Amino acid sequence: MAPSLNSTTEANANSNNDEKYPDVNWEEMGFSLTPTDYMYVMKCSIGENFSQGSLIPYGNIELSPSSGILNYGQGVFEGLKAYRKEDGRILLFRPEQNALRMKAGAERMCMPSPSTEQFVAAVKQTVLANERWVPPFGKGSMYVRPLLMGSGATLGLGPAPEYTFLVYVSPVGSYHKGQRSLNLVVEEKHHRASSGGTGGIKTVANYSPVLNALSRAKAQGFSEVVFLDAATGKYIDEASACNLFSVKGNTISTPPTHGIILPGITRKSIIEIARTLGYQVEERHVTIDELLDADEAFCTGTAVVVTSIGSVTHQGRRVEYKTQADTACQKLRETLTGIQMGMLEDTMGWMVEVN
Ligand code: COI
Repeated sequence: MAPSLNSTTEANANSNNDEKYPDVNWEEMGFSLTPTDYMYVMKCSIGENFSQGSLIPYGNIELSPSSGILNYGQGVFEGLKAYRKEDGRILLFRPEQNALRMKAGAERMCMPSPSTEQFVAAVKQTVLANERWVPPFGKGSMYVRPLLMGSGATLGLGPAPEYTFLVYVSPVGSYHKGQRSLNLVVEEKHHRASSGGTGGIKTVANYSPVLNALSRAKAQGFSEVVFLDAATGKYIDEASACNLFSVKGNTISTPPTHGIILPGITRKSIIEIARTLGYQVEERHVTIDELLDADEAFCTGTAVVVTSIGSVTHQGRRVEYKTQADTACQKLRETLTGIQMGMLEDTMGWMVEVN
């Protein structure tokens, strides 16, 4: 049973008398937070399993100043999307993959995690409770953000005594609103991940360290950065918020995950789609020189979907790529989003109905 609406919720309610949707300008949405009605919360103590969670009104949460997440970054998160089909039904894209990735991240960060069934049920309940915020067909999607954190107090370094699994949602449009292709710069100073580190999991602690490079890149007019591997500086790693691919002829290459690169669910899906479309896909180390010599390049992620890279700048040299019609990127994006929005047959069995 959905909880009753609180005052925050009433403030969010539509003002245009449209019964079904809140008052949102769907056409203008970028990737920013629109507070919705409910969030899902489930807690457990260290050494126990998650058992029972509930929906509560969306809002701020209370945390000990000494919590594991605030002091030692003990947390992982996920990102997935819900889409409204033309017939009004709501679909999730591969939610069980996010559950599995969260579990792997939780193990690395010494945290208990919800089971796949608990994770998927929590995501479905949260999306359904906020159903009116799922954009109309073709006007964006609902971004779902599951978080798992050490919420208990721990002053000395160690796993927190209590954990919180939380799911909140927000309607979103394009991550790089208004940019049809991205201009990237190769980062010379910082690395994102190293062997034996946490690059291959979605810990919160991976994301603030990239902000310095990203801010410098944005100040120079770039949209994203290309990180290079920490060991040799010769191979491409990831961008700050997405996986990287290069295309040469009929061959699509992307770095192998191997604990350093995030095993993106969009990355994995694009590899599968590309193979079915007849491309040769290689998961292997890709040198920065190969990327600069590619015909095409693109990035993938839940937030960015599949976005063309228009240029990469390395040590002052700018290389441009094909971004127009008839690119691999365009074919892959159309196929993926066609499946996600329910316009193409889901032959892979990826889509999960919420309602
Ligand atoms: C996603 O694509 O879902 C991510 O988590 C990237 C994030 C930086 C927006």
